[in-house]
Amino acid sequence: MSTLATTVDGLKFANPFVIGSGPPGTNAKVINRAFKEGWGGVIAKTISLDASKVVNVGPRYAKLMAGDGKEVIGWENIELISDRKFETWLDEFKEIKDAHPSGILIASIMEEFNKDAWCEIVERCQNAGVDAFELNFSCPHGLPERKMGAAMGQDPAILEEVCQWVRSVSKIPVWAKMTPNVTHIEEPTAASLRAGCHGVSAINTIRSVMGVNLETLRPEPTVEGYTTPGGYSSKAVKPIALRMVMEIAQLIRRDFPGRTLSGLGGVETGADAAQFILLGSDTVQVCTGVMKFGYGMVKQLCDELLAFMEAKGFETLDDFKGHSLQYFTTHAELVRMQTARKAAEAAAKESAMVRNDAEWDGDDFVKQSDALARKAAG
Ligand SMILES: Cc1cc2nc3c(=O)[nH]c(=O)nc-3n(C[C@H](O)[C@H](O)[C@H](O)COP(=O)(O)O)c2cc1C
Repeated sequence: MSTLATTVDGLKFANPFVIGSGPPGTNAKVINRAFKEGWGGVIAKTISLDASKVVNVGPRYAKLMAGDGKEVIGWENIELISDRKFETWLDEFKEIKDAHPSGILIASIMEEFNKDAWCEIVERCQNAGVDAFELNFSCPHGLPERKMGAAMGQDPAILEEVCQWVRSVSKIPVWAKMTPNVTHIEEPTAASLRAGCHGVSAINTIRSVMGVNLETLRPEPTVEGYTTPGGYSSKAVKPIALRMVMEIAQLIRRDFPGRTLSGLGGVETGADAAQFILLGSDTVQVCTGVMKFGYGMVKQLCDELLAFMEAKGFETLDDFKGHSLQYFTTHAELVRMQTARKAAEAAAKESAMVRNDAEWDGDDFVKQSDALARKAAG
């Protein structure tokens, strides 16, 4: 029988489904709810030492609808990291681990370019009992103005240094979360893995402008008549996320064997998750999907992924992790293979024609007709 249980960086996940950092991991109450519903892991909303610097605005979401306005396919947010007190979070981390010791609780952390601050946040969170860290180098709005988030994630040298600071004090697994707002995602990925991170998560949101209201002529989401570019997520980003996950997985296979990958971006079904795993993900995160469908969706995710595995005869996630990476090649190679296949087909057709012709010489026409009738029947 197939199993979804998996061990990643020594962490025992009941299933590969992890809540991605954001509103679904906003406090202990909702995180406890997620574990009760059966999520393998939860990454809490990103935190920093001084929450007083975080000031959110409203409205801070805008949706792209399809299907006559019935289905959300894209979601923009200009939400910042958590504005809740750091000390409150430490108490809640302890509370969550007491209530759900086997649930994998991951702290998402972010700080300014300051070694002491990064070391302090790591040490205090791990003392509170979290199982692992995700370093948020990827928030595309608001925080870059303080040289945080994507501003760090877009600079591999800074990223590498910060990851080294974290690894100098961390005693638990560390994943670095990548921003998709770069030309080559392999560069920041390699920097974080060179610095000793156990794995990476990809992707965070894609910098975006949702649209312009044609009545008011103001871009959305409109706050006091103005907006700022935000982060795009949900179903519409899945093809971009899969491409980046594929590139990271190829890099890991080539240069960092054994390091791990947590894939996310638009996952809503078990079939979506299977695709992320086929392209090399060890775990699969869901953020906006939970905002659309609720915590209970994990049951369907598990059922659908298990059904896929059983249909294909895969017993464990490792049986198919990264399987589809072998089918990527260059465009030049596609042209070469297609030209070769067409040439082989043309040659086969030619020789079939010659063969057919050779079957008729008129010497014993009745025998030859009979032989062809037997060939067709057999
Ligand atoms: C409203 C909202 C808030 C988010 N806040 C955070 C955050 O605090 N930290 C973080 O690392 N990612 C944050 N994200 C990004 C998600 O974790 C995820 O990387 C991204 O949305 C793509 O996955 P999805 O399509 O499953 O949402 C947020 C996303 C949304 C929609």
